[in-house]
Amino acid sequence: MRALLLTRYGGPDAAELRDVPQPRPGAGEVLVRVHAAGLNPVDFKTREGKLKLVQRYPLPVVMGNELAGIVEARGEGATRFAQGDRVFARMAKGAMGAFADYAVVSENLVAAMPPSLDFAAAAGVPLAGLTALQALRDELRLGPGSRVFIPGGAGGVGTFAIQLAKWLGAEVTTTASPRGRALVERLGADVVIDYTAERFEDHVRGMDGVFDLIGGDTLEKSFGVMRRGGTLVSIAAIPEPATARKDLGRGAALAALFWLASYGLRARARKHGVAYRYLFMHPSGAELAGLAQLIEGGKLQPVIDRVFPFEEIAQAFAYLESGRAKGKVVVRMQA
Ligand SMILES: NC(=O)c1ccc[n+]([C@@H]2O[C@H](COP(=O)([O-])OP(=O)(O)OC[C@H]3O[C@@H](n4cnc5c(N)ncnc54)[C@H](OP(=O)(O)O)[C@@H]3O)[C@@H](O)[C@H]2O)c1
Repeated sequence: MRALLLTRYGGPDAAELRDVPQPRPGAGEVLVRVHAAGLNPVDFKTREGKLKLVQRYPLPVVMGNELAGIVEARGEGATRFAQGDRVFARMAKGAMGAFADYAVVSENLVAAMPPSLDFAAAAGVPLAGLTALQALRDELRLGPGSRVFIPGGAGGVGTFAIQLAKWLGAEVTTTASPRGRALVERLGADVVIDYTAERFEDHVRGMDGVFDLIGGDTLEKSFGVMRRGGTLVSIAAIPEPATARKDLGRGAALAALFWLASYGLRARARKHGVAYRYLFMHPSGAELAGLAQLIEGGKLQPVIDRVFPFEEIAQAFAYLESGRAKGKVVVRMQA
């Protein structure tokens, strides 16, 4: 079968399309004929070797973290899905394998695809959708009347985050360039600041929570837009001790390293009287089924920017790496 194989860490040519043996489903796993797979910044960060501390893969490895397709076979003891079911999934942490004609995934991470979506749209949901859900519902605990600031609302995660924050009842302030304004307004953002023309820190105040999708300078300035007692959750900055323990299930050594690395950010958070949390999302079939229900109920729609044929996955990577995608970038394996 065709697969995007990572053979070494590096630039775009470190991963290439190759013919590799088809995987076999192990106990509790299903074999999925992949129809489409979503791209995410984690893919090029992995390729570049930037995440080795968090996730080390024995090379060569088939890349790709989320997929939509049809169940082809079941491993021993896998009973939740039948051959022919249309499913989608965020692959297990430390596994990957979605950029291929076939992939195996634990049935616990799989959910039935929303019937109204085609494969390309469904493939863009799992990673970004679950990330936004877990950050807003579980970490920021948004509810009716909460005020949340989401810098970077027009990208893969942001387009889910705006809709989910609205569904939770929050008032949403976001940033977008003129290229993304109409999109974030359509998704329900209450206040949109053009970050290319205005300083958001001059306009935003008293937020209960911030969901930071940008990191760097944007994150540093976001501490100042919150009320005391609020929480800032980042997915784009520096991990902290809870990331090691809660998200990665790792021990004291990594927690201590993250404690040191995040020292400055946590000190800044303390100065502003807010909490700092770096979330590394968790794959979950049950939570993905919840997102599918929201999609079927008309509360959530994936925004797909571009769909590339699988043979053009290098161009899909280049487009995502430009940092300008509006919604999700997807590759299609089957016509
Ligand atoms: N920790 C986790 O579990 C986790 C999970 C998912 C994602 N992430 C991380 O979260 C980040 C966002 O992911 P993504 O998939 O949403 O990325 P993405 O789709 O590539 O985001 C691109 C969007 O960001 C906008 N943008 C770029 N710079 C901006 C700025 N300074 N202010 C406001 N908007 C800006 C761009 O619009 P314009 O150019 O038009 O402004 C574009 O629409 C990445 O760093 C990714 O690695 C982490």
